[in-house]
Amino acid sequence: MTYDALVPNASQLTYGSYLKIPELLGLQELQSKPAQHDEMLFIIIHQVYELWFKQIRHEVSGMLEVIDEDRHLPFIKKLKRVNRILDVLVHQIDILETMTPIEFDKFRALLNPASGFQSHQFRVIEYSLGIRDDGYLKYHESNPTAYNAMKAAIESPSLWDGVLAFLDRKHLNIPAEVLARDVTKPWVMSLELAKTFGGVYRDIEKHPNAYAMLESLMDLDQKLLLWRYRHVAMVERIIGITRGTGGTQGVEYLSSTLSKRAFPEIWEARQFVITNVGCPM
Ligand code: HEM
Repeated sequence: MTYDALVPNASQLTYGSYLKIPELLGLQELQSKPAQHDEMLFIIIHQVYELWFKQIRHEVSGMLEVIDEDRHLPFIKKLKRVNRILDVLVHQIDILETMTPIEFDKFRALLNPASGFQSHQFRVIEYSLGIRDDGYLKYHESNPTAYNAMKAAIESPSLWDGVLAFLDRKHLNIPAEVLARDVTKPWVMSLELAKTFGGVYRDIEKHPNAYAMLESLMDLDQKLLLWRYRHVAMVERIIGITRGTGGTQGVEYLSSTLSKRAFPEIWEARQFVITNVGCPM
């Protein structure tokens, strides 16, 4: 059996030329000499993460665009895609956990002072969702591309800003001071907003669209949190409580990031819904 159409001539696009497979397969340069077997996995998994980060950035900027135009359906479709990607990102940690402490230790020192902490795409994602700490900018001053991407993200309306403006136009009364906030400043938790969402959760049949949107955003925030949990647990499993190659206290620093939320008022709203405190038994 032959498929003549699949015999390419030199001028035609092929799988390899379109996807730049030769270039892609040439991007894994091990630092260890002689090569340590597990360094290949370490490089590939980070590169795969960065590619998915790029796709998430693409989807989030698309989400902001369509929500500004009140196009609810494409927004939900993109949000669903981001959530599926985050599922993959969480599960990928399973693969890295097949590397034992001693296998990592064979090349870890060669990575100093490089660290995932320097992933500017991770910060751009945090910033564009609404998690904004400008203290991370200084680590990227020597890399204009990274710095400018982070600066642009932290100074533009976040996804959370876009969603709240949409909800106000279509479904809910969002507090005026939240809508009028200076988007270049860090987010300040609004209890008024949380109370508004509490009203949605108390009567979801009255607010089906707002409810569905808040829950899907909650999924996103929770998946990001799960990634943080899985990452810090994996770090402790592989390097214990030793310092990170990036210079932080490692597990201690990473644990401090577990309180970060992109959409804090959706979480806070729960306290305005749950009235029975204490053990039901
Ligand atoms: C053996 C595997 C890994 C170890 C031991 C590890 C360790 C660490 C440590 C200790 C930190 C804190 C910064 C520092 O002092 O270096 C950190 C931060 C970070 N790592 Fe990893 N990591 C690993 C794999 C990964 C992978 C596969 C990714 C995927 C991109 C990743 C992404 C990040 C990010 C984004 C941060 C910054 C988190 C934040 O500031 O909230 N790490 N990592």
